[in-house]
Amino acid sequence: MEINKLREEYVPDLFTLSEFKEIIIKITNESDYNFVIEKELSKIESDSFLKIVKEFKETKKPIAYLINNKYFYNFDFYVNENVLIPRPETELLVDEIMKYDLENKNLFDICCGSGCIGITIKNLNSKVNLLLSDISKEALEVVKINLEKHKQSGQIFCSDFLKIFNQTDIVPDFITINPPYIDNNDSNVGEFVKKYEPHLALYAEDRGLKFYKDLFNQLDYLYSKNKNLVIVCEFGFEQKEELEKIFSSKIVKYNIDFKKDYSSNWRLFIITSKE
Ligand SMILES: C[S@@+](CC[C@H](N)C(=O)[O-])C[C@H]1O[C@@H](n2cnc3c(N)ncnc32)[C@H](O)[C@@H]1O
Repeated sequence: MEINKLREEYVPDLFTLSEFKEIIIKITNESDYNFVIEKELSKIESDSFLKIVKEFKETKKPIAYLINNKYFYNFDFYVNENVLIPRPETELLVDEIMKYDLENKNLFDICCGSGCIGITIKNLNSKVNLLLSDISKEALEVVKINLEKHKQSGQIFCSDFLKIFNQTDIVPDFITINPPYIDNNDSNVGEFVKKYEPHLALYAEDRGLKFYKDLFNQLDYLYSKNKNLVIVCEFGFEQKEELEKIFSSKIVKYNIDFKKDYSSNWRLFIITSKE
């Protein structure tokens, strides 16, 4: 089977171009789609391709779960149904953190899921000291696989959100968080997101605001550990106004800087201390 012909047949009717490329990279074991675009698939590769086509048609399971792989910031991450599929807009958290001097600094990736944020930052600057935590033991198994895959080191904690800071004396310099933030009653969540991605990774109590409220309530505690701490956190693009309201009681002591993603949606905030 010629890859170019397959592309004509399946893109965009069944797969997006980027899904098709990821499938081809996975089954050919090549590092770059452009290396194989003119090639023909071997019998084994063709069988693998057709198996994925069949399973996708039957289940509509996200391609990332079918091939156990998702690219994030151009690094490939192992994923399975115990972790959220990394989203491109989350790459902005990496960009924000990379603006700082990370050498010998402690970076906590809280609610780490696959570990994509923390491990990407470590890939970009190996001198950072990486700590990753999640409440899901199954997700942490995926983190171990990804640390090994990227030949990186990092300490792993199973912890309920910010309770990790009672479990270790390591002083945080940077904290990245992509918490669950979807309202339990949100009817806009895609059918197959809802069906296949872990609800623990998607939904949060209090109209999706629970983790932000917890975070804001614990700022004095976190900044008592390090007044230069930088917290970078993702949120849902419709939550900015609510977050500003909740944060208003903290504004005397802390700065909050909201940023948009490349689609011009509000996407993350950065907290620093004014003291
Ligand atoms: C939106 S996902 C983010 C995963 C990953 N950081 C990413 O950006 O792709 C949220 C993660 O928070 C974890 N989580 C949910 N409740 C938690 C809690 N109470 N404490 C710690 N982690 C939690 C989920 O298991 C999930 O891995």
